[in-house]
Amino acid sequence: MVSIPKPGDALLTCPCLVLGHSRAASGIITSPVPSALTPREVPLALAQPKPEHLAEFALDYPSKVIGRARIVQADCFGWLRRIPDRSLHAIVTDPPYGVKEYELDQLEKRASGKGGIWRIPPDFDGHQRAPLPRFTALNDQEREVLREFFTEWAKLVNAKLRPGGHVFIASNAFICLLVFASLAAGGLEFRGQVMRQVRTLRGGDRPKNAEQEFPDVSSMPRGCYEPWGIFRRPLEPGMTVSECLRQYETGGLRRRPDGKPFSDVIPCTRTPQSERDIANHPSLKPQFFLRQIAWVALPLGRGLIADTFMGSGSTLAGANAIGYDSVGVERHPDYYQMAGKAIPRLAAVDFEGERQQSLFEAEILG
Ligand SMILES: C[S@@+](CC[C@H](N)C(=O)[O-])C[C@H]1O[C@@H](n2cnc3c(N)ncnc32)[C@H](O)[C@@H]1O
Repeated sequence: MVSIPKPGDALLTCPCLVLGHSRAASGIITSPVPSALTPREVPLALAQPKPEHLAEFALDYPSKVIGRARIVQADCFGWLRRIPDRSLHAIVTDPPYGVKEYELDQLEKRASGKGGIWRIPPDFDGHQRAPLPRFTALNDQEREVLREFFTEWAKLVNAKLRPGGHVFIASNAFICLLVFASLAAGGLEFRGQVMRQVRTLRGGDRPKNAEQEFPDVSSMPRGCYEPWGIFRRPLEPGMTVSECLRQYETGGLRRRPDGKPFSDVIPCTRTPQSERDIANHPSLKPQFFLRQIAWVALPLGRGLIADTFMGSGSTLAGANAIGYDSVGVERHPDYYQMAGKAIPRLAAVDFEGERQQSLFEAEILG
Protein backbone atom coordinates (compact mmCIF):
# COMPACT_ATOMS: atom_id res chain seq x y z
CA MET A 1 0.00 0.00 0.00
CA VAL A 2 1.27 3.47 -0.84
CA SER A 3 1.09 5.83 2.07
CA ILE A 4 1.05 9.60 2.16
CA PRO A 5 2.69 11.11 5.24
CA LYS A 6 0.39 12.90 7.59
CA PRO A 7 1.16 16.12 9.44
CA GLY A 8 3.09 15.05 12.50
CA ASP A 9 5.07 12.28 10.81
CA ALA A 10 8.70 12.50 11.81
CA LEU A 11 10.02 12.93 8.29
CA LEU A 12 8.40 14.42 5.29
CA THR A 13 8.16 12.03 2.40
CA CYS A 14 6.02 14.24 0.21
CA PRO A 15 7.01 17.79 -0.70
CA CYS A 16 3.42 18.79 -1.28
CA LEU A 17 2.94 18.94 2.45
CA VAL A 18 5.56 21.64 2.59
CA LEU A 19 4.33 23.29 -0.52
CA GLY A 20 0.73 23.16 0.62
CA HIS A 21 1.12 24.09 4.27
CA SER A 22 2.45 27.00 6.16
CA ARG A 23 5.56 25.96 7.96
CA ALA A 24 4.21 27.07 11.31
CA ALA A 25 0.97 25.16 10.86
CA SER A 26 2.49 21.79 10.03
CA GLY A 27 5.46 22.04 12.38
CA ILE A 28 7.09 19.12 10.57
CA ILE A 29 9.65 20.67 8.31
CA THR A 30 13.12 19.46 9.08
CA SER A 31 15.04 21.31 6.40
CA PRO A 32 14.68 24.88 5.18
CA VAL A 33 12.76 25.66 1.99
CA PRO A 34 14.73 28.71 0.93
CA SER A 35 12.71 30.08 -1.92
CA ALA A 36 9.28 28.59 -1.24
CA LEU A 37 6.36 30.91 -0.86
CA THR A 38 3.58 29.26 1.05
CA PRO A 39 0.12 29.99 -0.33
CA ARG A 40 -0.57 32.30 2.58
CA GLU A 41 2.29 34.52 1.49
CA VAL A 42 1.05 34.78 -2.08
CA PRO A 43 -1.40 37.65 -1.62
CA LEU A 44 1.55 39.75 -0.44
CA ALA A 45 3.45 38.97 -3.65
CA LEU A 46 0.36 39.73 -5.67
CA ALA A 47 0.00 43.07 -3.99
CA GLN A 48 3.06 44.38 -5.82
CA PRO A 49 2.96 43.06 -9.39
CA LYS A 50 5.65 44.62 -11.53
CA PRO A 51 4.36 45.53 -15.01
CA GLU A 52 7.78 44.94 -16.56
CA HIS A 53 8.20 41.45 -15.04
CA LEU A 54 9.20 39.01 -17.84
CA ALA A 55 8.17 41.66 -20.39
CA GLU A 56 10.45 40.16 -23.03
CA PHE A 57 8.04 37.20 -23.23
CA ALA A 58 4.97 39.34 -23.97
CA LEU A 59 6.24 40.45 -27.40
CA ASP A 60 3.25 42.22 -28.97
CA TYR A 61 0.57 39.79 -27.67
CA PRO A 62 -2.11 40.57 -25.07
CA SER A 63 -0.40 39.87 -21.76
CA LYS A 64 -0.67 40.35 -17.98
CA VAL A 65 1.48 39.90 -14.90
CA ILE A 66 0.02 37.94 -12.00
CA GLY A 67 2.42 37.68 -9.07
CA ARG A 68 5.57 36.09 -10.50
CA ALA A 69 3.72 34.76 -13.56
CA ARG A 70 3.23 36.35 -16.97
CA ILE A 71 0.32 35.14 -19.08
CA VAL A 72 0.24 35.63 -22.84
CA GLN A 73 -2.59 35.15 -25.29
CA ALA A 74 -1.04 33.59 -28.39
CA ASP A 75 -0.65 30.46 -30.42
CA CYS A 76 2.33 28.82 -28.75
CA PHE A 77 3.97 27.77 -32.02
CA GLY A 78 4.21 31.38 -33.18
CA TRP A 79 5.24 32.51 -29.69
CA LEU A 80 7.97 29.88 -29.38
CA ARG A 81 9.44 30.91 -32.73
CA ARG A 82 9.80 34.49 -31.50
CA ILE A 83 11.16 34.22 -27.95
CA PRO A 84 14.94 34.15 -27.46
CA ASP A 85 16.78 30.85 -27.84
CA ARG A 86 17.86 29.18 -24.56
CA SER A 87 15.56 31.44 -22.53
CA LEU A 88 13.52 28.78 -20.66
CA HIS A 89 14.75 26.58 -17.81
CA ALA A 90 11.84 24.11 -17.91
CA ILE A 91 8.44 23.40 -19.37
CA VAL A 92 5.53 21.95 -17.40
CA THR A 93 2.51 21.52 -19.61
CA ASP A 94 -0.72 19.68 -20.31
CA PRO A 95 -1.22 19.79 -24.08
CA PRO A 96 -4.34 18.97 -26.10
CA TYR A 97 -3.59 15.21 -26.04
CA GLY A 98 -5.33 14.40 -29.28
CA VAL A 99 -4.62 17.89 -30.76
CA LYS A 100 -8.12 18.28 -32.15
CA GLU A 101 -10.19 18.39 -28.93
CA TYR A 102 -9.40 22.09 -28.38
CA GLU A 103 -10.16 23.13 -31.95
CA LEU A 104 -13.03 25.62 -31.98
CA ASP A 105 -15.45 23.29 -33.80
CA GLN A 106 -14.87 20.56 -31.22
CA LEU A 107 -15.33 22.98 -28.31
CA GLU A 108 -18.62 24.13 -29.85
CA LYS A 109 -19.77 20.50 -30.15
CA ARG A 110 -18.78 19.94 -26.53
CA ALA A 111 -20.78 22.99 -25.39
CA SER A 112 -23.88 21.90 -27.32
CA GLY A 113 -23.54 18.22 -26.30
CA LYS A 114 -23.40 17.26 -29.99
CA GLY A 115 -20.71 14.59 -30.03
CA GLY A 116 -17.45 15.21 -31.83
CA ILE A 117 -14.43 13.90 -29.94
CA TRP A 118 -16.02 14.78 -26.55
CA ARG A 119 -18.13 11.93 -25.13
CA ILE A 120 -20.02 11.60 -21.85
CA PRO A 121 -18.53 8.67 -19.87
CA PRO A 122 -20.98 5.92 -18.83
CA ASP A 123 -23.08 6.79 -15.80
CA PHE A 124 -22.19 3.93 -13.44
CA ASP A 125 -23.02 5.48 -10.08
CA GLY A 126 -25.95 7.77 -10.75
CA HIS A 127 -23.72 10.86 -11.23
CA GLN A 128 -23.75 12.82 -14.47
CA ARG A 129 -20.15 12.99 -15.81
CA ALA A 130 -18.47 15.84 -17.64
CA PRO A 131 -17.56 15.07 -21.27
CA LEU A 132 -14.10 13.54 -21.89
CA PRO A 133 -12.26 13.45 -25.21
CA ARG A 134 -12.34 9.93 -26.68
CA PHE A 135 -8.94 9.32 -28.22
CA THR A 136 -9.85 5.90 -29.59
CA ALA A 137 -11.86 7.93 -32.14
CA LEU A 138 -8.68 9.28 -33.81
CA ASN A 139 -8.21 7.92 -37.32
CA ASP A 140 -4.91 7.40 -39.13
CA GLN A 141 -4.91 10.87 -40.62
CA GLU A 142 -5.56 12.49 -37.24
CA ARG A 143 -2.79 10.40 -35.70
CA GLU A 144 -0.45 11.74 -38.39
CA VAL A 145 -1.50 15.31 -37.54
CA LEU A 146 -0.78 14.54 -33.90
CA ARG A 147 2.66 13.19 -34.76
CA GLU A 148 3.53 16.31 -36.75
CA PHE A 149 2.15 18.63 -34.05
CA PHE A 150 4.27 17.14 -31.25
CA THR A 151 7.40 16.70 -33.37
CA GLU A 152 7.25 20.34 -34.43
CA TRP A 153 6.53 21.48 -30.86
CA ALA A 154 9.53 19.46 -29.59
CA LYS A 155 11.86 21.02 -32.17
CA LEU A 156 10.81 24.52 -31.11
CA VAL A 157 11.03 23.72 -27.42
CA ASN A 158 14.49 22.22 -27.88
CA ALA A 159 15.76 25.50 -29.25
CA LYS A 160 14.13 27.63 -26.54
CA LEU A 161 15.16 25.54 -23.54
CA ARG A 162 18.59 25.86 -22.04
CA PRO A 163 20.67 22.70 -22.54
CA GLY A 164 19.62 20.26 -19.81
CA GLY A 165 16.22 21.97 -19.38
CA HIS A 166 13.43 19.54 -18.48
CA VAL A 167 9.97 19.08 -19.96
CA PHE A 168 7.13 17.53 -17.96
CA ILE A 169 4.20 16.81 -20.24
CA ALA A 170 0.83 15.28 -19.38
CA SER A 171 -0.56 12.47 -21.47
CA ASN A 172 -2.81 9.48 -21.08
CA ALA A 173 -2.17 5.77 -21.15
CA PHE A 174 -3.79 5.32 -24.52
CA ILE A 175 -2.01 7.98 -26.52
CA CYS A 176 1.34 8.46 -24.75
CA LEU A 177 3.22 6.03 -27.01
CA LEU A 178 2.53 8.20 -30.03
CA VAL A 179 3.09 11.52 -28.26
CA PHE A 180 6.32 10.51 -26.54
CA ALA A 181 7.76 9.00 -29.75
CA SER A 182 6.97 12.26 -31.56
CA LEU A 183 8.72 14.32 -28.87
CA ALA A 184 11.80 12.11 -29.14
CA ALA A 185 11.68 12.47 -32.95
CA GLY A 186 11.74 16.24 -32.40
CA GLY A 187 15.04 15.94 -30.53
CA LEU A 188 14.02 15.78 -26.86
CA GLU A 189 15.67 13.11 -24.75
CA PHE A 190 13.23 10.73 -23.02
CA ARG A 191 13.99 10.56 -19.30
CA GLY A 192 11.10 8.44 -18.00
CA GLN A 193 7.62 9.18 -16.73
CA VAL A 194 5.86 10.40 -13.62
CA MET A 195 2.74 8.43 -12.83
CA ARG A 196 0.03 10.58 -11.36
CA GLN A 197 -1.89 7.87 -9.57
CA VAL A 198 -5.52 8.82 -9.99
CA ARG A 199 -8.66 6.90 -10.77
CA THR A 200 -9.68 8.14 -14.20
CA LEU A 201 -13.03 7.40 -15.78
CA ARG A 202 -11.42 5.58 -18.67
CA GLY A 203 -11.53 1.88 -19.45
CA GLY A 204 -13.03 -0.94 -17.46
CA ASP A 205 -16.18 -1.20 -19.59
CA ARG A 206 -17.64 -4.45 -20.87
CA PRO A 207 -17.47 -4.97 -24.65
CA LYS A 208 -19.74 -2.40 -26.28
CA ASN A 209 -23.22 -3.66 -27.24
CA ALA A 210 -22.37 -7.11 -25.88
CA GLU A 211 -22.37 -6.34 -22.17
CA GLN A 212 -24.88 -9.10 -21.36
CA GLU A 213 -23.11 -11.64 -23.50
CA PHE A 214 -19.68 -11.03 -21.91
CA PRO A 215 -20.43 -9.88 -18.38
CA ASP A 216 -17.01 -11.03 -17.07
CA VAL A 217 -14.90 -9.18 -19.67
CA SER A 218 -13.69 -5.59 -19.95
CA SER A 219 -12.14 -4.32 -23.13
CA MET A 220 -9.45 -2.27 -21.35
CA PRO A 221 -8.27 -1.94 -17.75
CA ARG A 222 -9.89 0.80 -15.66
CA GLY A 223 -7.36 3.65 -15.80
CA CYS A 224 -5.77 4.37 -12.43
CA TYR A 225 -2.87 6.57 -13.52
CA GLU A 226 -2.06 9.52 -15.75
CA PRO A 227 1.42 9.31 -17.32
CA TRP A 228 3.49 12.51 -17.52
CA GLY A 229 6.47 12.24 -19.84
CA ILE A 230 9.82 13.52 -18.57
CA PHE A 231 12.06 14.84 -21.32
CA ARG A 232 15.21 16.93 -21.40
CA ARG A 233 17.01 19.04 -23.93
CA PRO A 234 20.20 17.02 -24.36
CA LEU A 235 23.24 18.29 -22.50
CA GLU A 236 25.99 19.73 -24.63
CA PRO A 237 28.37 17.04 -25.95
CA GLY A 238 30.72 15.85 -23.21
CA MET A 239 29.04 17.98 -20.55
CA THR A 240 28.28 16.44 -17.14
CA VAL A 241 25.20 17.24 -15.07
CA SER A 242 27.27 19.20 -12.57
CA GLU A 243 28.82 21.30 -15.35
CA CYS A 244 25.36 21.89 -16.79
CA LEU A 245 24.03 22.96 -13.39
CA ARG A 246 26.89 25.44 -13.04
CA GLN A 247 26.62 26.86 -16.53
CA TYR A 248 22.87 26.73 -17.24
CA GLU A 249 21.19 26.02 -13.85
CA THR A 250 19.60 22.96 -15.50
CA GLY A 251 20.32 19.30 -16.12
CA GLY A 252 18.99 17.75 -12.90
CA LEU A 253 15.84 17.68 -10.80
CA ARG A 254 15.36 19.44 -7.50
CA ARG A 255 15.24 17.17 -4.48
CA ARG A 256 12.26 17.29 -2.19
CA PRO A 257 12.39 19.68 0.74
CA ASP A 258 13.29 16.77 3.05
CA GLY A 259 16.39 16.05 0.92
CA LYS A 260 15.05 12.83 -0.60
CA PRO A 261 14.98 12.39 -4.38
CA PHE A 262 11.77 13.09 -6.19
CA SER A 263 10.07 9.81 -7.00
CA ASP A 264 8.12 9.06 -10.12
CA VAL A 265 4.82 7.84 -8.68
CA ILE A 266 2.68 10.51 -7.07
CA PRO A 267 -0.50 9.44 -5.30
CA CYS A 268 -3.12 12.01 -6.08
CA THR A 269 -6.85 12.47 -6.48
CA ARG A 270 -9.00 13.90 -9.20
CA THR A 271 -8.95 17.70 -9.24
CA PRO A 272 -10.98 18.72 -6.16
CA GLN A 273 -14.31 20.44 -6.64
CA SER A 274 -13.00 23.45 -4.67
CA GLU A 275 -10.43 24.03 -7.48
CA ARG A 276 -12.98 23.32 -10.21
CA ASP A 277 -15.16 26.01 -8.67
CA ILE A 278 -12.28 28.45 -9.23
CA ALA A 279 -11.48 27.42 -12.82
CA ASN A 280 -14.11 25.78 -14.98
CA HIS A 281 -11.66 24.40 -17.56
CA PRO A 282 -12.35 20.89 -18.95
CA SER A 283 -8.77 19.76 -18.24
CA LEU A 284 -7.97 21.47 -14.93
CA LYS A 285 -5.07 19.76 -13.12
CA PRO A 286 -4.78 19.74 -9.32
CA GLN A 287 -2.50 22.06 -7.37
CA PHE A 288 -1.50 19.13 -5.15
CA PHE A 289 0.27 17.57 -8.13
CA LEU A 290 1.43 20.61 -10.07
CA ARG A 291 3.23 22.23 -7.16
CA GLN A 292 5.32 19.09 -6.80
CA ILE A 293 6.15 18.93 -10.51
CA ALA A 294 6.98 22.64 -10.69
CA TRP A 295 9.20 22.24 -7.64
CA VAL A 296 11.39 19.51 -9.14
CA ALA A 297 11.58 21.11 -12.60
CA LEU A 298 14.05 23.80 -11.44
CA PRO A 299 16.99 21.93 -9.88
CA LEU A 300 18.44 25.00 -8.17
CA GLY A 301 15.07 26.51 -7.26
CA ARG A 302 15.55 29.41 -9.67
CA GLY A 303 14.89 30.09 -13.32
CA LEU A 304 11.81 30.26 -15.53
CA ILE A 305 9.11 27.64 -16.10
CA ALA A 306 6.90 27.88 -19.18
CA ASP A 307 3.52 26.31 -19.86
CA THR A 308 2.80 26.58 -23.58
CA PHE A 309 -0.74 25.12 -23.25
CA MET A 310 -1.73 27.13 -20.21
CA GLY A 311 -5.52 26.60 -20.11
CA SER A 312 -6.76 28.18 -16.91
CA GLY A 313 -3.24 28.66 -15.57
CA SER A 314 -2.93 25.83 -13.03
CA THR A 315 0.81 25.35 -13.70
CA LEU A 316 1.46 29.07 -13.22
CA ALA A 317 -0.62 29.03 -10.03
CA GLY A 318 1.51 26.16 -8.76
CA ALA A 319 4.68 28.07 -9.63
CA ASN A 320 3.37 31.22 -7.91
CA ALA A 321 2.52 29.19 -4.81
CA ILE A 322 6.14 28.03 -4.44
CA GLY A 323 7.75 31.30 -5.48
CA TYR A 324 8.96 30.46 -9.00
CA ASP A 325 8.87 32.68 -12.08
CA SER A 326 6.65 31.37 -14.87
CA VAL A 327 5.20 32.26 -18.24
CA GLY A 328 2.05 30.73 -19.74
CA VAL A 329 0.65 30.85 -23.26
CA GLU A 330 -2.98 30.19 -24.17
CA ARG A 331 -4.58 30.55 -27.58
CA HIS A 332 -8.26 30.62 -26.63
CA PRO A 333 -9.34 34.10 -25.45
CA ASP A 334 -11.88 32.73 -22.92
CA TYR A 335 -9.30 30.48 -21.26
CA TYR A 336 -6.75 33.31 -21.26
CA GLN A 337 -9.27 35.49 -19.39
CA MET A 338 -10.11 32.59 -17.08
CA ALA A 339 -6.41 32.18 -16.21
CA GLY A 340 -6.15 35.84 -15.27
CA LYS A 341 -8.82 35.36 -12.62
CA ALA A 342 -8.00 31.79 -11.55
CA ILE A 343 -4.22 31.97 -11.00
CA PRO A 344 -4.26 34.06 -7.79
CA ARG A 345 -7.06 31.96 -6.31
CA LEU A 346 -5.54 28.60 -7.27
CA ALA A 347 -2.17 29.77 -5.94
CA ALA A 348 -3.83 30.48 -2.61
CA VAL A 349 -5.41 27.02 -2.29
CA ASP A 350 -4.18 25.53 0.94
CA PHE A 351 -4.98 21.84 0.75
CA GLU A 352 -4.72 19.63 3.69
CA GLY A 353 -2.60 16.47 3.69
CA GLU A 354 -5.00 14.37 5.67
CA ARG A 355 -7.88 15.18 3.40
CA GLN A 356 -5.80 14.18 0.38
CA GLN A 357 -4.94 10.93 2.16
CA SER A 358 -8.57 10.03 2.78
CA LEU A 359 -9.61 11.01 -0.75
CA PHE A 360 -6.78 8.90 -2.10
CA GLU A 361 -7.76 5.90 -0.03
CA ALA A 362 -11.40 6.22 -1.04
CA GLU A 363 -10.66 6.63 -4.73
CA ILE A 364 -7.69 4.36 -5.35
CA LEU A 365 -7.61 1.81 -2.61
CA GLY A 366 -11.28 1.62 -1.72
C1 LIG B 1 -5.38 20.27 -21.87
S1 LIG B 1 -5.68 21.96 -21.83
C2 LIG B 1 -4.69 22.54 -20.47
C3 LIG B 1 -5.50 22.83 -19.23
C4 LIG B 1 -4.67 23.16 -18.03
N1 LIG B 1 -3.97 21.98 -17.58
C5 LIG B 1 -5.51 23.68 -16.88
O1 LIG B 1 -5.32 23.15 -15.74
O2 LIG B 1 -6.31 24.57 -17.06
C6 LIG B 1 -4.81 22.52 -23.26
C7 LIG B 1 -4.99 23.98 -23.54
O3 LIG B 1 -4.14 24.32 -24.63
C8 LIG B 1 -4.79 25.29 -25.43
N2 LIG B 1 -4.17 25.23 -26.77
C9 LIG B 1 -4.37 24.31 -27.74
N3 LIG B 1 -3.57 24.56 -28.80
C10 LIG B 1 -2.83 25.66 -28.48
C11 LIG B 1 -1.81 26.39 -29.15
N4 LIG B 1 -1.40 26.05 -30.37
N5 LIG B 1 -1.25 27.45 -28.50
C12 LIG B 1 -1.65 27.80 -27.25
N6 LIG B 1 -2.63 27.16 -26.58
C13 LIG B 1 -3.21 26.09 -27.18
C14 LIG B 1 -6.26 24.89 -25.39
O4 LIG B 1 -7.11 25.99 -25.69
C15 LIG B 1 -6.41 24.38 -23.95
O5 LIG B 1 -6.87 25.40 -23.09
